[in-house]
Amino acid sequence: MADLPVYTDADPSMAELLATHPHLTTDPMCGLMFEGVPLNAIADAVGTPCWVLGAGTLRQRLKRMQTAMVDAGLDVSIHYAVKANDHLSVLSLIGQEGYGVDIVSGGELARTQKAGIAANRVVFSGVGKSDAELEYAIGLGIGQINVESAEELGIISAIATRLGKQATITLRINPDVDAKTHAKITTGLAANKFGIPFDNAAALYARAFTLPGLKPVGFATHIGSQIVSTAPYHAAYARVAELVRTVRASGLSVEVVDCGGGLGICYRNEVEGQPEALAGTIRAELGELGVRLSIEPGRWPVGPAGVLLSSVVLRKQEGLPAPFVVLDAAMNDMVRPSMYDAWHGILPLAPQAFNQPVTPTHVVGPVCESGDTFARDRLLPPLERASRIAILDTGAYGAVMSSTYNSRPLATQVLVENGQWTVIRHRQTLEELWQDETIPAHPTGKA
Ligand code: LLP
Repeated sequence: MADLPVYTDADPSMAELLATHPHLTTDPMCGLMFEGVPLNAIADAVGTPCWVLGAGTLRQRLKRMQTAMVDAGLDVSIHYAVKANDHLSVLSLIGQEGYGVDIVSGGELARTQKAGIAANRVVFSGVGKSDAELEYAIGLGIGQINVESAEELGIISAIATRLGKQATITLRINPDVDAKTHAKITTGLAANKFGIPFDNAAALYARAFTLPGLKPVGFATHIGSQIVSTAPYHAAYARVAELVRTVRASGLSVEVVDCGGGLGICYRNEVEGQPEALAGTIRAELGELGVRLSIEPGRWPVGPAGVLLSSVVLRKQEGLPAPFVVLDAAMNDMVRPSMYDAWHGILPLAPQAFNQPVTPTHVVGPVCESGDTFARDRLLPPLERASRIAILDTGAYGAVMSSTYNSRPLATQVLVENGQWTVIRHRQTLEELWQDETIPAHPTGKA
């Protein structure tokens, strides 16, 4: 296409996206395939928008993380961060494979119990756990609570004492380290709301041993999400190691360090975070401490394991240099582009589309906000009314962040496993949209 303008932007081509997403392939008859299943067949059967999640990809990626830790000679347990994708089928797979979970709410805890995950494999993080959530968690005897403030330490002690239980706790440390990621998903800077300031941690840890109902076992940290370099991890873990040595020197025991999540994936042109490099960092900074270690990955295992299928409602080009292709998916389904300016790969489903010339295209949703934009000036083959596309890397922070804004029902979800696919969430009906609403009897205004 020598006659097209040259775009210096570093967007990957469709071929490059396929190369970085091995679970996506193309078939000359069926078009885009996901773990061997034609995505068009799924869209034909259940319509769009539709989330598709691949159990095979998720299992493989979890396994790679585990192998990386074992190969580094580390005793690291994997606690999948439920917030990334809390579907019961994902949690059930996590449980079957023997992993633990990291949760941030009573709702997530309830889901893990529904999915059959043993309570002692659950770690509870979060800056504002309610009394009811703590009672539920402590009552169940969950594995560990990561405490985020001095006030919370006292609350947990009181609740555990009242319940006649002992709560196993770590202190989540804010190491004041810049994770060099998007400002909205950075958590380890002193200015962020998360964790206990590093300088207060040793004294608070000592205090924890004096309070009833608590079993302090160590420290946790989590510095942010979509981290693609090991440098911030080195810095954070070095500080945690320093703290472990300090409190041990004062005679206190430390058995556990929870290393948090945050490993980034390749959405556009990032070099994907490597579990092996993370394992090396953990070993270098924490390997000599003789503690039980854990990580809390969410995005890395499940992000690439999902796509969002959508159809073109119409195309709008009147007088514009690049067309607006309006999808049937919107920001209410997938908010990441609107919320974080996130870049997600887009591939067509039709077999012929992979051989067609590409031109700059704006891909938008139908919601009445300009922020409802999935991509601007994206080089794509011709997309006409009813053409279908897959938005890539939506397995994490995709369906979980959906809303029903504009009274748009939640989309269908499908799980692909061993070449078969199953609907794991039906498309929300209009009745379901308002079934929990009531209309009060209006005052008549008459005397
Ligand atoms: N542990 C804690 C305490 C966390 O707060 C998080 C994520 C994780 C683990 C998992 O982090 P991951 O491995 O997934 O990076 N909605 C945003 C991401 C928010 C992440 C919040 N915390 C997004 O779509 O980018």
